[in-house]
Amino acid sequence: MMSNSESMILKGGSVLVTGATGDIGRAIVNECVSAGAAVFAAGRNEDKLSALVNQYESRVIPLNYDVTDEKAVKDAFRQIQIQQNQPNVGPLMGLVNNAGVMKEAPLSVSAMDGLKAQLNVNFLAPYQHMQLASRLMARHRHGSIVNIGSQVGEQGSSGLSAYGASKAALSGASRSLAKELAAVGIRVNTVAPGFINTELTAHFDDEARQDIESRIAMRRSGRAGDVARAVVFLLSKQSAYTTGHVLPVDGLFYP
Ligand SMILES: NC(=O)c1ccc[n+]([C@@H]2O[C@H](COP(=O)([O-])OP(=O)(O)OC[C@H]3O[C@@H](n4cnc5c(N)ncnc54)[C@H](OP(=O)(O)O)[C@@H]3O)[C@@H](O)[C@H]2O)c1
Repeated sequence: MMSNSESMILKGGSVLVTGATGDIGRAIVNECVSAGAAVFAAGRNEDKLSALVNQYESRVIPLNYDVTDEKAVKDAFRQIQIQQNQPNVGPLMGLVNNAGVMKEAPLSVSAMDGLKAQLNVNFLAPYQHMQLASRLMARHRHGSIVNIGSQVGEQGSSGLSAYGASKAALSGASRSLAKELAAVGIRVNTVAPGFINTELTAHFDDEARQDIESRIAMRRSGRAGDVARAVVFLLSKQSAYTTGHVLPVDGLFYP
């Protein structure tokens, strides 16, 4: 069994998690706090953010903004720059770009608005977050960025071309940024979940779920915690020599 000090693999620094009030986001916050980090929890639902703060007290610092609002993102990073100097917080050493939206539509009826909305949330916003976070991390020559991609972006899925494109853009940028930022001590990796039981997939009916699970080698859909534990591994020194990779968390899914 691991001792308490061995399990505190993120102790001494802080992590920004976007989409912190969503299902996978909450699990990531929980795992980061358990691993000893202070967490900047970004979300746009004030009540859900308050619930997180109540649950974890001083280990969670709420940041209320929409990730597509460029000015609000800059303001949030100004807050982080100030608050990371507090002794119970610590320097920003991790960024998890987790906020995401998925809109299903076949090409023939896809609306440009839906395509743009997904590119904005799933790719452009994470890109701005990586730019601002890397500036803070580079000062300490230490940091780890984990982007939440998707197996849809890596393997494709009928009816999800816009979503898949936005996630493929994110893992594509991550590969290049890993090469660019290695020189300043920052690692960049992508976690690509398969089918995870969350609000995002709640609309799938039993038949669709069974069909998907029959194509997963492990014969079950994923849980938010499965994704969160992979994220903490990539944030921590346990993965110190791993960068530029896409880690599937999908129970081995056959598309
Ligand atoms: N579930 C899966 O099977 C699966 C598979 C592969 C990848 N993923 C990815 O995993 C991530 C988390 O998804 P989830 O399954 O946990 O879904 P979720 O429960 O719906 O969480 C999505 C989160 O993103 C936030 N968000 C969306 N648009 C935002 C915006 N403009 N500004 C700020 N926050 C915004 C949502 O905030 P609100 O609550 O305010 O809307 C919510 O907190 C996403 O990137 C998703 O694409 C999920």
